[in-house]
Amino acid sequence: MPSYLVTGASRGIGYEFLRQYSSDAQNIVIALVRDKLATEKKVARDVDLLGRSNIRILQADITDYTALKQAAVDTAGITGGSLDYIIANAGLVPKFDLFLPIGELGKRPEELTRTLRDSFEINVIGNIHVFNLFMPLILVGQAKKIITISSGLADNSFTNQWGAAQGSLYAASKAAMNTIVAKFNVQYKKDGVLFLALCPGPVEVGHYDGATEEELAAVQPLLGIFKEYSPGYEKPKAPEVSVRMCRDVIEAASLEKGDGGTLVSHYGNQQWV
Ligand SMILES: NC(=O)c1ccc[n+]([C@@H]2O[C@H](COP(=O)([O-])OP(=O)(O)OC[C@H]3O[C@@H](n4cnc5c(N)ncnc54)[C@H](OP(=O)(O)O)[C@@H]3O)[C@@H](O)[C@H]2O)c1
Repeated sequence: MPSYLVTGASRGIGYEFLRQYSSDAQNIVIALVRDKLATEKKVARDVDLLGRSNIRILQADITDYTALKQAAVDTAGITGGSLDYIIANAGLVPKFDLFLPIGELGKRPEELTRTLRDSFEINVIGNIHVFNLFMPLILVGQAKKIITISSGLADNSFTNQWGAAQGSLYAASKAAMNTIVAKFNVQYKKDGVLFLALCPGPVEVGHYDGATEEELAAVQPLLGIFKEYSPGYEKPKAPEVSVRMCRDVIEAASLEKGDGGTLVSHYGNQQWV
């Protein structure tokens, strides 16, 4: 019975991973969320998930080491001690740097500092603790795949060539995480563990909801870049579409093919949009 740990499974892309993986009754899907009760209610209300007994919901903020440690113990109890896949999806997508370039953010230094700290706390340090705490389970699992949901915005060639100025603090945390993925790969590839950073492409989960006219105008250049970079691009993909593509990439990826420690997109290459 393949087992999956999906972090940040309460909403957005993580919830879609939960929905899709649990559609196969052979899978067991462990959803790690910050508010267990709220996610239990959401799952219970979701008609598509009715009768799915292969979903387990555990609670932990990924910045809470003690809670993560308990989640690893609980996961072992559910699966019998092993784990096949980690989908490290939980992440902070800050509103603060979503619209403006870094020089503008500098006009609000305290918020800049706080946002960058929070981004590293969640998007980098939290994931490192997840990987280390769940590693004993992965090492005795079958698939041995640890996937970090990352972003093409962390590709400096893309930033420089196409002029993507937005999301600077967020992208820095994702870039740091890509390096961490490579370092984990180097240590654990001898044990057959595949570490992969995976960009799902632009996905519509409501990040721009509530944006002012001014903010929307400020983000237009980025949307223009996406259209120029990827002719035919019109709008972010629905989570259902992106996650389906990501799942194909996850299944196809292997150490043998040289994917260990790399950053790829939902297309399985370096095409980010
Ligand atoms: N959407 C895109 O276009 C896009 C593009 C590239 C990469 N990504 C990446 O995809 C992943 C999912 O993002 P999304 O777009 O689906 O965003 P989202 O809708 O904002 O979802 C973020 C998820 O992460 C969880 N989370 C945040 N902080 C957490 C913490 N400290 N501990 C545990 N869980 C925490 C949230 O839980 P709560 O419900 O408790 O807040 C939520 O489930 C992120 O890693 C993001 O960087 C997204």
